[in-house]
Amino acid sequence: MPDVTMDQIVSLCRRRGFVFPSSEIYGGLGSTYDYGHYGVLMKNNIRSLWLQAMVQERDDIVALDSAVILNPRVWEASGHVGGFVDPLVDCRTCKLRFRADQLDQASCGRKPSKRPGETPDCDLTEARQFNLMFKTQVGALEDESSVAYLRPETAQGIFVNFKNVLQLARRKPPFGIAQVGKSFRNEITPGNFLFRVREFEQMEMEFFVPPADAEQWYRYWIDQRFGWYLEYGLREENLRKREHSAQERSHYSSGTTDIEYRYPIGWQELEGVANRGDFDLTQHTQHSGTKLEFVGEGGERYTPYVIEPAVSIERIFVAMLVDAYHEEVVAERDRTVLRLHPAIAPVKAAVLPLIPRNGDMVEKARSLHGELRTSHVVEYDDGGQIGRRYRRQDEIGTPFAFTIDDQTLEDDTVTVRDRDSLAQERLPIGGVPAWLEEALTKRWRTPVA
Ligand code: GAP
Repeated sequence: MPDVTMDQIVSLCRRRGFVFPSSEIYGGLGSTYDYGHYGVLMKNNIRSLWLQAMVQERDDIVALDSAVILNPRVWEASGHVGGFVDPLVDCRTCKLRFRADQLDQASCGRKPSKRPGETPDCDLTEARQFNLMFKTQVGALEDESSVAYLRPETAQGIFVNFKNVLQLARRKPPFGIAQVGKSFRNEITPGNFLFRVREFEQMEMEFFVPPADAEQWYRYWIDQRFGWYLEYGLREENLRKREHSAQERSHYSSGTTDIEYRYPIGWQELEGVANRGDFDLTQHTQHSGTKLEFVGEGGERYTPYVIEPAVSIERIFVAMLVDAYHEEVVAERDRTVLRLHPAIAPVKAAVLPLIPRNGDMVEKARSLHGELRTSHVVEYDDGGQIGRRYRRQDEIGTPFAFTIDDQTLEDDTVTVRDRDSLAQERLPIGGVPAWLEEALTKRWRTPVA
């Protein structure tokens, strides 16, 4: 287990303005969160690195941004109206709700807390099926004909656009469609900070392949996605692949492998990679009457199989914070440091005048900051003692800090401090932009064993 608790992550996120409980001044809304400045920057980095790997660096995947509210028949065809359910039980005594299939992980509302059903006072109802989709109304009429749903996954927006992309983007299998966007699930038991929330940002890619090649592409995408996490700094000992048994797989899947991360709550699904076969295109063909198939130049036709890597930014965000979080003692002082991969870190560098009251230092620092910020998110900080400012940057994971001091005024050099090794070296101020550019593109691995 990583030696960090979820409480430490929650507390750092709050203290440094990464993430806050949502609508807090009204008492919050269970397991709903808002992202502050650093949280937004870090989320943007995760999203754009995913898009870079999925779309920018490939010839065979295109992007899509479909609507959140789709024709409700989409969700009938996909099986979500009938089958996107969790079994739920209520306790008539403590009025709490539990997932019937996870009672062994839940806590009863009474003190001292036990498992639901364990105390003589517990009075559990029979399990009933609870649909996780959020219902809404479209238009002014509030009747059955206006019922619609907030999408519980981005994938279906991709399937219903299969024909558009096939024709307009002139693609043929193997090719993929990638989408990033909000998904909504009325989870019975959200929790563990951002790990299970009701509103989250999914990143899904549907890869359409000839049926005979599906198994090979399934293995390929498991390895690609596993490698992506290593590239962006997660420690290999905290990652593993776990193949689902036939009983565990979703109705649409003929093979699913979870990439699991060792969260403080134990090994849990970070990302799922599924072989969805021809389930989705066949279902939408039958329900819509529009043939969703590939017709080759020689007239051969088939329904492609789909390989799907699917993940939420939230699960990556938590895994990366957990992996990066360290408390240590340096020169007899405590420091908390986020050893984030530089590409993930919300701020890439800090520019610090050693003596904030010295006008010449401030001027040079402002000028360097102005130059660097045209290419990267950099922060100027002149608040408080230099040691405190370094600690602040360590806590938000800033990999480099440039300090303007007396010597800068004499010879136009600055010190650069490395967050991980704490090494300091001197550089000519004019060389800083190029130095930073290179440092940010170097291969990075955590120095923590
Ligand atoms: N299209 C397939 C699909 O949605 P899923 O396993 O239900 O499959 C895919 O979800 C990914 O979305 C998960 O691996 C996880 O990263 C993320 N996810 C699912 N439910 C979530 C929730 N309530 N909160 C945060 N992330 C969630």
